[in-house]
Amino acid sequence: MNAGNTKEGRLTKQRNAGKRIKGMVELLNIDCMEIMPRYSDNHFDLAIVDPPYGINISQDLHKRGISCSKNGYRRWDFKAWDSCPPNDKYFDELFRVSKNQIIWGGNYFDLPPTRCYLVWNKVQRKFSFADGELAWTSFDKSLRIFDYSRGSALNNSKLDKIHPTQKPIKLYEWLLINNAKTGDKILDTHLGSGSIAIACHNYGFDLVGCEIDKEYYDKMMIRYNNRIAQQDLFTYDDIYRN
Ligand SMILES: C[S@@+](CC[C@H](N)C(=O)[O-])C[C@H]1O[C@@H](n2cnc3c(N)ncnc32)[C@H](O)[C@@H]1O
Repeated sequence: MNAGNTKEGRLTKQRNAGKRIKGMVELLNIDCMEIMPRYSDNHFDLAIVDPPYGINISQDLHKRGISCSKNGYRRWDFKAWDSCPPNDKYFDELFRVSKNQIIWGGNYFDLPPTRCYLVWNKVQRKFSFADGELAWTSFDKSLRIFDYSRGSALNNSKLDKIHPTQKPIKLYEWLLINNAKTGDKILDTHLGSGSIAIACHNYGFDLVGCEIDKEYYDKMMIRYNNRIAQQDLFTYDDIYRN
């Protein structure tokens, strides 16, 4: 198929021709439980969220950093955000304000059966961390897999790895290209590093996102502003198509 005829091809062509519809990206340093009540039912077309899984990953990465720092392993400060997963009230609000949902960590939460899981296959095996991550979705369509290696993720985020569980921008772009329509309003209740914000900017989607932790939020804003400023200087393909 001619690449220009795919959805990604059309969006990329529009963007490179300077015709990209500018999305409105609103990033807030606030508890998501404070922001969701402000919106009416079904306000957002799609929620793409990555809440704490309740597995203490932050503590685990902090300890691993101490024991492996000689091998160049990054040391992350301990933060308690992953000690408990969101409660039922969170999911009630999420399902109220959004028409469709993609929920990372879907295998950790008590969600209804679905036929459409989305899988991030991290390609390299034999690490102590999981070989991939699962997102539960509200879609009635086939399961899909995105292959993106830990190595690529690490290389592409070398300069701006700011969060211990940072997901790749390309992963969010893949989610948007395949599951959102032009003009959709997107919600992310747990921004972390804000990779989704850069992806939404790149593809012209409106986003409301929030992050409760001030330190992560401040780093995310710097990362976001740097990335979009770079993009205005070079073409998108120069920076991201590697
Ligand atoms: C799994 S991480 C998100 C990682 C993100 N997907 C990325 O690519 O960087 C979850 C984030 O949610 C934040 N968080 C936890 N509880 C929150 C809440 N009630 N409201 C907003 N953010 C919250 C944590 O500080 C943490 O940064």
